[in-house]
Amino acid sequence: MADVLVIGSLNADLVVRVARFPAPGETIQGGDLATLPGGKGANQAVAAARQGVSVAMLGRVGNDNFGDLLLDNLKSNHVDTSLVRRDAAATGTAMIIVDQHGQNSIVLSPGANGKVSPADVEPASLPDVKLVLFQLEIPLETVLRAAAAAKKNGVRIMLNPAPARALPEELIAGSDFLLPNETELNLLTGQPVKDVASAEGAARALLAKGAQTVIVTLGANGALLVTKDEAKHIPAFKVQVVDTTAAGDAFIGGFASALLRGDELEQAVRYANACGALATTKFGAQPSLPNKEEVERLLRK
Ligand code: RIB
Repeated sequence: MADVLVIGSLNADLVVRVARFPAPGETIQGGDLATLPGGKGANQAVAAARQGVSVAMLGRVGNDNFGDLLLDNLKSNHVDTSLVRRDAAATGTAMIIVDQHGQNSIVLSPGANGKVSPADVEPASLPDVKLVLFQLEIPLETVLRAAAAAKKNGVRIMLNPAPARALPEELIAGSDFLLPNETELNLLTGQPVKDVASAEGAARALLAKGAQTVIVTLGANGALLVTKDEAKHIPAFKVQVVDTTAAGDAFIGGFASALLRGDELEQAVRYANACGALATTKFGAQPSLPNKEEVERLLRK
């Protein structure tokens, strides 16, 4: 039996490094094409599994080579894939360019991710887990049904509202843990988020809507933990950035694993910061996700 069920996307990431992002209408030359396992759902599943918790993934891939790549990588990271269905649609893909500063720009083609349906997440079909983890790269109606099913089963809900979009109040209210970045927080609340103080104000607006704990990821600025009792800014670890792709996913998987091991919230956010920082030091999404030993080494420094 798994501790965490991730309900979300699996993408083949088609990645090219560039010196700078092209302007509209401009053609520029990049480096070699890399085809790597990605997708926010699958990344978070692998991120948590590499920290030693047992993880199951629910989603869809196509009957194609990209589907094989994604399933193979999940399995080699000990993620249970029995709830990943193969669909007639193509496997989801992400076209990613990464610039010389490690920043990225991503275009998604949802493919089979767009076919994950409410029928896939009926309460009876969900395994008995301690935590369900969602993002927003599958249809929103499926996320809503799955969150309702998790609530019905008495399971804690962790939501990473990415990519940014407006959400029904019931989803925010039902979230035990809500983990937006600054852009997502701004979109969810309509409040400008430009520093730690404004992030705290916006996070409090989500608490007022019913979320229990809000953790805002702030990139190189670390993370902000906000509950009704506390607001705590936890700084980032300083590392040499190669590629920021999946840093947020590493943070979320790491945070989930630390919570399940029994860490207090602040300690779990510090652990997650270490996971996120290490993921930026390597190229690609799933290939960059750190294991437990690497995280513990950074924490000891
Ligand atoms: O969060 C990073 C991920 O976003 C990439 O792996 C890409 O697949 C997109 O889903």
